[in-house]
Amino acid sequence: MSWGLHRLLAASIPYLPKGLVGLFARRYVAGEAAGEALAVARECNRQGFETTLDILGEHVASEHQAAIVAQQYADLYGEISREGLEANISLKPTHLGLDLGRQICETKVFQVLDEAQATDNFLRLDMEDIRYTDDTLALYRKCRARHAKVGPVLQACLRRSGDDLAALLSPQLNVRLCKGIYLESPEVAIQDRHAINANFLKLVRQGFAGGGYLAIATHDQRLIAEVESIIREGELSPDRFEFQVLYGVPMAGKLQTLRDQGFKVRIYIPFGETWYDYSLRRLQENPAIVRYVLRNLFRR
Ligand code: FDA
Repeated sequence: MSWGLHRLLAASIPYLPKGLVGLFARRYVAGEAAGEALAVARECNRQGFETTLDILGEHVASEHQAAIVAQQYADLYGEISREGLEANISLKPTHLGLDLGRQICETKVFQVLDEAQATDNFLRLDMEDIRYTDDTLALYRKCRARHAKVGPVLQACLRRSGDDLAALLSPQLNVRLCKGIYLESPEVAIQDRHAINANFLKLVRQGFAGGGYLAIATHDQRLIAEVESIIREGELSPDRFEFQVLYGVPMAGKLQTLRDQGFKVRIYIPFGETWYDYSLRRLQENPAIVRYVLRNLFRR
């Protein structure tokens, strides 16, 4: 699909009936309250899967809102620890005020990070669109100097990601690799999906060669198979990587197969009151998802 056509489709998304967006959300969102997400995490753990929890939201408009979100995340680490769950947290810097200023965001993220440290847990900084890449990587570096268990995300669609990985890479790096969900211009992002996959695999090879720990975040089964080949060829130990998927995406038994091979699989569980806005934005950023949703509905 051309970039122009993509933009046109994206503009029509807000006119989708709320019911359709609700159908999309129900499948991919654990619920509105933390308790519902923790229950889903418990069930995933019971099945042998680890989890990462995400409170839905981004681009907060005030420092007060960012402070509320920071407190919610800090409390969540406490709940995870009390319940003894195999769960960590993924957060979006703009949900903690990055649009309002780097300093505001840093203070709030440090508050969450200190709770991660207090409960000996890990924090993942999700990667948002290209406007935030530099600031998010700078924030990651500051976090890393404060607490070892923190990791960034790199997007295979971005032309810069190979250089970013080279700059970050060390045996201490824990990086999530994904294709990238945001609609970016051809100047900064590869548009061809085969070329994005090729770049994904290049990043995987580069990451393993540099000794990093890789979180392979994709539902693309062919890509997963190619990563498995790299793992086999390199005789890489399962403590060098994990696979990650979004809650609710159908994987046709692949997660169980990976788990049974002794590989770690982590499920990303979003929850929160802003599910409608979140879903609408996700659909606008990538209208192709509408196709997945409709296909999945008809498959049931
Ligand atoms: P691709 O889009 O080619 O999908 C492969 C197949 O998976 C499709 O054919 C379809 O069947 C299925 N599929 C994919 N997405 C689906 C969906 N939502 N519903 C139903 N079926 C679906 N992005 C980002 O920019 N920053 C980030 O921080 C993250 N974080 C992140 C964490 C985790 C755990 C995952 C899995 C993904 C992300 N992403 C992300 C999103 C990622 O960049 C990417 O947009 C999606 O994972 C979709 O791309 P795939 O790699 O799955 O391939």
